[in-house]
Amino acid sequence: MKKISDRIFYVGVNDDDKVLFEGLWPLPVGVSYNSYIVADEKVALVDTVECGFEEEFLANIDEAIGDRQIDYLVVNHMEPDHSSLVSLILERYPSISIVANAKTLPMLAGYYGVPAEKVKVMDEGESLSLGSCSLSFHMIPMVHWPETMVTWLEEEGTLFSGDAFGTFGSIDEDVVDNEDTFEQFRDEMMRYYSNIVGKYGTPVQAALKKLAGLNVQRICSTHGPVWEKNVADVVALYDRMSRYETERGVCIVYGSMYGNTAAAADALAMELEALGVPYAIHDLAGNNAGELGVSGALRDVFKYDTIVVGSPTYNNGIYPPVETFMKALQSRLIKNRRFYAFGSYTWAGASVRLLNEIAAAQNFEILGDGLSFPQAYTREKVDMAAVAELLK
Ligand code: FEO
Repeated sequence: MKKISDRIFYVGVNDDDKVLFEGLWPLPVGVSYNSYIVADEKVALVDTVECGFEEEFLANIDEAIGDRQIDYLVVNHMEPDHSSLVSLILERYPSISIVANAKTLPMLAGYYGVPAEKVKVMDEGESLSLGSCSLSFHMIPMVHWPETMVTWLEEEGTLFSGDAFGTFGSIDEDVVDNEDTFEQFRDEMMRYYSNIVGKYGTPVQAALKKLAGLNVQRICSTHGPVWEKNVADVVALYDRMSRYETERGVCIVYGSMYGNTAAAADALAMELEALGVPYAIHDLAGNNAGELGVSGALRDVFKYDTIVVGSPTYNNGIYPPVETFMKALQSRLIKNRRFYAFGSYTWAGASVRLLNEIAAAQNFEILGDGLSFPQAYTREKVDMAAVAELLK
């Protein structure tokens, strides 16, 4: 438990054991599930945490409010990493009312059997008085589910933002950010955004416009630190990513069966290095694959303006791990990117043509025909210096 202000207490938990978030996304530095108490004449709990943390969660609540009762459980977002302990809270505080919006009702019933009469349904912008302060509720659909809303505590300039402005990574006991925290979390915030929310750039922009009128002094997200010092930087980063804006640089992503496409990728990285072009390189397959896989590659797709993809031809198609990455680009509606493809084949090349077809469908700017080479990589056969010149 951590006291954030006279009224607000952090009662969330860190999860350092889960290997894959949503069963998909690696968590090398953990993740936090944040929950908050607003204690006034009435007491509100904003969101719960993932199941498996029942004891710690209840102990945090007890430390914050002792034997006071909780009057309201605000459900901003129904994804189970935040709603799993709704039933536990209902059981412990039988007179509690759930505060949610109309879209949440069927999900509460379907996941946890919560009857409609337990739910106080709030309309857009409606307020709920806690005594000396009030909570108001604002829909931000598809950030990151259709029922998602944020809760605004005007008297504290505090936005309980759900997944918005969240990040992977466990948080330390301070909970609240400091001068170093934003840089420390920047990569994990970009990875979180690109992996989890990246498909919903337009809804994120709509949410940012809606929230622009609020004088936000503090952001209490459901993942990561409480943002105070870095509110402006955090909002600016979300704004940039949801506009698909990037910086100049190259994200090289490849898979390789026998090391030839990998050798070409490494050669390109060396050439870019020599030219002073910023780049990242991600191996999606094999023993040398980075632990972040597609997850890390997507982060750098949101960072750099140029995507270079290497794939051998496999069954007359794209090598499957690379195909998965290309599908991830499509599903995130990635746009405004330059693109280049390369890869080896043995008797008939198809991967580069197919990669370019996907890139064309995404309206990427395709930088040349690509580089499809037969059998082994050699410097003489595969001129990555020329490719680097094209990309710089
Ligand atoms: Fe952290 Fe969309 O749940």
